[in-house]
Amino acid sequence: MSRFFDLVSKPARDMGTTNAPSTTLAAIERRSQLIKLDSNENPFGPSARAVEAMRSALSAANSYPDDGCGELRRKLATHHEVRPEQVLVGAGSTELISLLCQTLLARGLNAVTSERSFIIYSMAVRAARGQLIETPMRDDSFDLEAILSAIDAKTRIVFLANPNNPTGTMLEATVVERFLAQIPGHVVVVLDEAYYEFALRFAALRGVTYSNSLEYVRQEASVVVLRTFSKAHGLAGLRVGYGLGPAELLGYCARMRNTFSVSSVGQAAALAALDDDNHIQRVVENNVLQSRVLSQGLSGLGYRAVPTSANFVFCDLGEDAAAHADRLQNEGVAVRPLGPWGAPNCIRVTIGTAEQNQAFLQAAQRVVARGFGTGTQMSGLAREDREY
Ligand SMILES: Cc1ncc(COP(=O)(O)O)c(C=O)c1O
Repeated sequence: MSRFFDLVSKPARDMGTTNAPSTTLAAIERRSQLIKLDSNENPFGPSARAVEAMRSALSAANSYPDDGCGELRRKLATHHEVRPEQVLVGAGSTELISLLCQTLLARGLNAVTSERSFIIYSMAVRAARGQLIETPMRDDSFDLEAILSAIDAKTRIVFLANPNNPTGTMLEATVVERFLAQIPGHVVVVLDEAYYEFALRFAALRGVTYSNSLEYVRQEASVVVLRTFSKAHGLAGLRVGYGLGPAELLGYCARMRNTFSVSSVGQAAALAALDDDNHIQRVVENNVLQSRVLSQGLSGLGYRAVPTSANFVFCDLGEDAAAHADRLQNEGVAVRPLGPWGAPNCIRVTIGTAEQNQAFLQAAQRVVARGFGTGTQMSGLAREDREY
């Protein structure tokens, strides 16, 4: 075996390499030429106000950032009508997921979620030496009965991604309410609302209630709500997210944080982006409109597209999705094949701008016109260059 295999910890040995970054400059260059519909990013970028705030913050980049993210924390608390102690800011909501696992889990303890959900849950749980129990899905969504049955005395966390990534399905507020009422006291439920702004709009159009999650935070229930600036606000590259939950629990999580994990530029951008309603509205309206274009286009090609409540569409191709994604990549469009999520025939396509979606649908038509199963070789980006 290799030189360090026996030296590193078991979680490090057992961890897969699914989050391996694109390392070569050539790979980065090739990726930059693709229409990127593989990572649920915001196709409009950050708002002008956020860009302006980042510019101003750059000249003070010689100073360390405010470790407690005080101003942002206070603004988030006011925005969500909770106390500042009920807010913890991190380097993306993925940092909050890791912190919750490091704080609540240990060897012998477990977290429960559904199969085919956000891939970081499994990585964070394993890094904290815990076990992740994944229950089967029902109708491309979480089976909450199965999750309740899987909870045992060793369970400390339940992860509900709402909407779920990669299926895009939403759990309505009443369903979550009934679920929470049955959760035992030793379990913290993480309501991961990374796609909150998109889901809120879809729910309004469908005449349903998406989420009452902040009510649970205000009641200091055993619930942590996760939100992020990576999606509707278009700041994925800056890494700013936050958790809203019981002050005591977040206090323990804060002790586990990496010092200065949120940069000063990121904090400045988030402060400016939080209430830039015009930008968010533009992003969300495009998403609603283009979700229809994308879903109808995919259905027109004979695929099963699951109705989405987020900024991406989960689509069953009925054939090897990795090969299909390779062909699309050769046509200049990157989408996410979902083999690592146990859905080898499915892809996830980010909802882009009208132009990006047309380019994707045209590329998909060209691939279909050439027929499936031809085993096209990738000419551009190697599979291992793909990031998660
Ligand atoms: C369900 C879910 N939660 C959290 C995140 C992570 O977001 P962040 O960029 O804030 O770490 C994502 C990102 O794709 C996601 O899909």
